Formats: sequence, C-alpha cells, structure tokens
Amino acid sequence: MNDNYLKVARLAAAAGAEVLLSYQGRFSVREKAPRDLVTEADVAAQQAIQKILLSNFPDHGFVGEEEGHDQVSAEMLADPKHPPIWIVDPLDGTVNYVHQLQSFAVSIAMYHAGELQIGIVHDPVTREIFWAQRGAGAFLNDCPIQCSQTDRLDQALLACSFSAGTQHDSAELGRFAAALDGAQSVRRLGSAALNLCYVAAGRLDGYWATCVKPWDVAAGALIVTEAGGQIRALSGDRFDPWNPRFAATATEPLNDQLLRCIA
Ligand code: IPD
Ligand code: CA
Ligand code: CA
Repeated sequence: MNDNYLKVARLAAAAGAEVLLSYQGRFSVREKAPRDLVTEADVAAQQAIQKILLSNFPDHGFVGEEEGHDQVSAEMLADPKHPPIWIVDPLDGTVNYVHQLQSFAVSIAMYHAGELQIGIVHDPVTREIFWAQRGAGAFLNDCPIQCSQTDRLDQALLACSFSAGTQHDSAELGRFAAALDGAQSVRRLGSAALNLCYVAAGRLDGYWATCVKPWDVAAGALIVTEAGGQIRALSGDRFDPWNPRFAATATEPLNDQLLRCIA
C-alpha cells in the first residue's frame, strides 16, 4: 500500500472538517427528499475533499454522497485491476449539524482489490481523528484503539441508524424494540460513521444499520474490524460495503446474539 494514500486522505479529511467548521451558523439548508437535509457545507466540504484526492490521484475512482455517487459500476468493483475508489461522506450527521448538535464527521474510505483499505473519520468539533489501514490496526489520533470485550447482549450498549423519514410501521422499529429488550440500552446518535468509531474505541459495544449508504459506513467498518471487532451482514454473510445491512460488534459472540435478536 502506498503510504501517500493515507497521508493525502488525512489531509483531505482535515480540509473537509475545516470547511464544516467555517460554515457553522451561516449555511442554507434544503431537503433532497422529505426530511433528508443537505446544506451548503455538505457540498463545499465534498468539493474540497474531492479536489485534494483527485488532484493527487487523477486516475482513481470517486464516490461522494453529494455528487458522483452513481459513478461506480458492478464491472468496476469486480475488476481487481481497477484503480482505487474513494468513498466519501463530506458531512455525516447533517441533521445534527443543522440543529447545532455537535456530533458530526467527515468520512473517507478507500476501496481497492475487493477490500476496504483505508478508513478515516474526522470529527471537527472534538478533533478526534479515527483511522485505520488494512492489516495495520485502528487508531484515535496517534493512539491504538480496541473494541470492548463485551460478549453478552444484556451487558451491551448499542446504537443504530434509521433512514430519514422512517415510518412507524418500518421493520426498523421492530428491530429497535427487540434490541431494547435484549441489550443493556440503545442509542441513536445521528452519525453512522461516528457510531462505528465508538464501537472501535470501546465506547459502544455494537451498532447496526439496514438503511445506510456506502459513504456512511465504509470508513467506520474498516476501523471497527481493525480494532478487533466483528462486522457481518444481517443475513450472516460477509459484510459488503456496497450493500451495507449489517451488525458491527465488539466481539463475535455478541455479533451472534445481536443478529439473532434483530435479523
Ligand atoms: C445519515 C447519518 C444518520 C443515519 C442516516 C444517514 P447524513 O447521514 O449517518 O446517522 O441514520 O441514515 O443518512 O445524511 O447525515 O450524511
Ligand atoms: Ca451520511
Ligand atoms: Ca452526508
């Protein structure tokens, strides 16, 4: 792996984070779909990130939430010789950001040769930078991080994400109720990327999502596995970052119990 990839990705995440801070309190908001918000800051942060990544690596692919998310095909993903693909959420936690709730992040992942290779989640407010490189462990700023040892659902603090506009009869609410019965407690914090990093850092024991997109969770998924955690599709199959319906947990026994509880 080219060391420069990680360095440039960290620079791009930092540039995106600066844009988000600079727009606080002075952005316009619109709805992409009912209750699905986007601000000027989302778009400006993505532009800053994309410029840094693609000016350094002009032949790489780019999948960003705000533009270009349809630029990846099944053929590209199946081709082991395809150049790396960057998967970017310039602002994960837009609803929090709009309401001045200080819990949101930039998320950048790199996918190559059928695997996630790099993940970076940069929280501009706390200045926490969670990052991982395949096979090299997971870190919070300069310190290695590890998932908790929790292996019992009834002792686990979980989080989950719902999509914008989840209705009362959605299957998600059934899963939420089952998890409330089975776990110690359940949170819904508003940033899928940060939830996964909190599992990696031992602040949460598990997290599941069935309605998120690749850019929400690609970076965090690698960070969890590099921190010793388990991530599996809801079906029990291997986690697929391009079709993210999954449970991520600190330990394997906890993953089994969570999947049995919600799947
Ligand atoms: C959202 C957040 C949220 C999750 C939503 C995502 P956005 O991303 O990750 O936690 O519940 O499904 O869309 O829109 O803030 O980038
Ligand atoms: Ca997101
Ligand atoms: Ca976003």
